[in-house]
Amino acid sequence: MTFLFNSDATRGAIFREVLAREIPDLPFEIDPAQVDADEVRYMITWLVPPDLGAYRNIEILFSIGAGIDQFNAASVPASVKIVRMVEDGIVRMMQEYVTLAVLALHRNWTVYLDQQREQLWRAIPQPQAHVRRIGVLGLGLLGRAVLERLKPFGFPLSGWSRSRHAIDGVTTYHGADGLEAMLAVTDILVCLLPLTEETRGLLNAELLAKLPRGASLVQTGRGAQLDQAALLGALDSGHLAGAVLDVTDPEPLPTDHPLWRHPRVLITPHVASVTQPETAALAVAANVKRHRAGLDPVGLVDRSRGY
Ligand code: NAP
Ligand code: GLV
Repeated sequence: MTFLFNSDATRGAIFREVLAREIPDLPFEIDPAQVDADEVRYMITWLVPPDLGAYRNIEILFSIGAGIDQFNAASVPASVKIVRMVEDGIVRMMQEYVTLAVLALHRNWTVYLDQQREQLWRAIPQPQAHVRRIGVLGLGLLGRAVLERLKPFGFPLSGWSRSRHAIDGVTTYHGADGLEAMLAVTDILVCLLPLTEETRGLLNAELLAKLPRGASLVQTGRGAQLDQAALLGALDSGHLAGAVLDVTDPEPLPTDHPLWRHPRVLITPHVASVTQPETAALAVAANVKRHRAGLDPVGLVDRSRGY
């Protein structure tokens, strides 16, 4: 029974040390050439390896990231549990990033950065937090954590999900009608949805048009959820005031793409939140223990929903 680590060696060394401490009887290997494929019960990877079929006794395929859209789930036998990364480091980093992005948009930083380039000293009227309405798409691990972190600023908060949720201090919406209702009262829209067939292209011209004039977007989900041409159109028409994009389609964003140079857009190279090996290894060890105890791992993907 072996744990195969199919990612970079630096992170692998940390996983090796943590797993040896947490589950001493579980052999750990980072080099697939060194393992008896039949012994592999657990594998952690970013992409599904093309030779997955060679590991006939695998029980859990862990994603090294929170998202699992990069997995071709159809190539994973139904008997294998697919588990996304649920760990404290990812949550903390996403809280930091979205808070930074929301505050940057709230405090007009795209405009001030532009004015700095022009050596222009000009104050913009500043709406206060209690009138800047934040709407978060996705009320999962990350959406909820971000909303929690935003609470002390005093923004009116809302969130949208597939199923109904109740969250203290947050107005919640669900389903198609709920989306429309939330968009109408959202000044800064944050996307923290997984990429599925339902969310691919969701942030299109029609959706952006439903936001109030002057609204902004923070995109920290996946690039393929956003119609980038529609975003450019909405920014250029003045309907949207700004956007912070951590994910694009494709990645990297081509150097000649107009979003790079748009004065109201801030772009980061998919760094909002990155798996932290120390905390991730602890989370994976806990999941192996749960699995051995006959419990479902935390972050078990529901294949029928695609997340
Ligand atoms: P999660 O816990 O699985 O939560 C997903 C949320 O999205 C749930 O609230 C779910 O609704 C909602 N949802 C899914 N499909 C929907 C639909 N069709 N309509 C409405 N709501 C829908 O996921 P998470 O851990 O919060 O992560 C979310 C995503 O963030 C990841 O999948 C990944 O793409 C992205 N991410 C990005 C970075 C980065 O660095 N940019 C880092 C980590 C993660 P229900 O509650 O009703 O199920
Ligand atoms: C990063 O985008 C992740 O899914 O962890």
